[in-house]
Amino acid sequence: MAMEENLVDELQPPQKAERAADAGFLWDFWYPAVRSSEIRSRRLAKATLLEVPLVLGRTDDGRAFAMRDACPHRGIPLSYGRFDGQNLECGYHGWKFDGCSGQCVEIPSLSSQDKLKVERIFAGHYPCEERDGCVWVYMCEAPVRSEAAVPAAPKLATFSQRYKSTHLACDLPSHVDQGIIGLMDPAHGPFVHQSWFWRNKKSIHEKAKQFEPIPFGFRMSTHSPSSNSAPYQLLKKMTGAPVTTTIDFILPNLRTEEIRSGKLWFSSLTTVTPVRRDLSRIDFVAAWNVPLPVTIFRAFAKTFLQQDQETMIKQAEGLKHNPRLMLIDDADRPAKWYFALKANLIEARRKGTVMVHPMHDPVTLRWRS
Ligand code: FES
Ligand SMILES: [Fe+2]
Repeated sequence: MAMEENLVDELQPPQKAERAADAGFLWDFWYPAVRSSEIRSRRLAKATLLEVPLVLGRTDDGRAFAMRDACPHRGIPLSYGRFDGQNLECGYHGWKFDGCSGQCVEIPSLSSQDKLKVERIFAGHYPCEERDGCVWVYMCEAPVRSEAAVPAAPKLATFSQRYKSTHLACDLPSHVDQGIIGLMDPAHGPFVHQSWFWRNKKSIHEKAKQFEPIPFGFRMSTHSPSSNSAPYQLLKKMTGAPVTTTIDFILPNLRTEEIRSGKLWFSSLTTVTPVRRDLSRIDFVAAWNVPLPVTIFRAFAKTFLQQDQETMIKQAEGLKHNPRLMLIDDADRPAKWYFALKANLIEARRKGTVMVHPMHDPVTLRWRS
């Protein structure tokens, strides 16, 4: 009788298969997956990032983990299985995987004759970190060999011991690129975000803002914000100090904003995360020590997000028919930088070279908004 050489037969090529058609995602970055509260005690949560189905959980010693939601044996989602606080057991044939490493620890069907090395089998597994009440997952294209090679997960900047904070999220029926260029688009403000408490269409005026290159992104250089917005005027009255604001965009999808006036500050981190090629999600987390109740701030922020969301739903209706689109100067220049940053990063990774930044020097952009 011939000895079985191959103890494991691969039924399908691993992970890369379903990415045959490029969806325009940026791999090897952190993305927010679920709220920390969704994996309280032994609850498992499901999420999709970059079209990868994930199951997330927390071990009894408090570590959050993220596995690909597919058993490496026959592909049934592991989220249908049982979690004992350390291992996740598949609901089909009971293979058990360590949550924190994805390593297989048990195959119940093996007999004493079997030579299969169980510990060499791994379920798809991704680095996972919790920040600001959210579970972030490092979506690596190839399995990460050493966690040391993974950069730190993004974190909201805060500037005092005590502060208030909140989180809001909403889905956009769009490719992540549309969500991101919507996020950095200055010209839609007077049309989409008209509110009595913020500003109105008549307050539109010419602006000049300086931008500068930063690693993997660009910054709207520190400046005093638009005088036609009531909240900024109020802040200035409260502290007597000038108000300054700095806004950064950093690949793959991060927008941070810092507003400071004397000892008072407000800080936010907004991300647009690719779920599928036709679905993305905005997460907005903010912290502040300005005297502003969470409920009131949430009501305002929600209105803003909903205005963006409603606009993007309408836009998706138009984009279904693949219209030709335009990017104009200067109002769409940040969008052009985004596409150039993304293309240059992909190119640099492909060639194994250093990424070329599309901006060289600070630039002043002018638009009316
Ligand atoms: S499919 Fe998971 S153990 Fe068989
Ligand atoms: Fe907006």
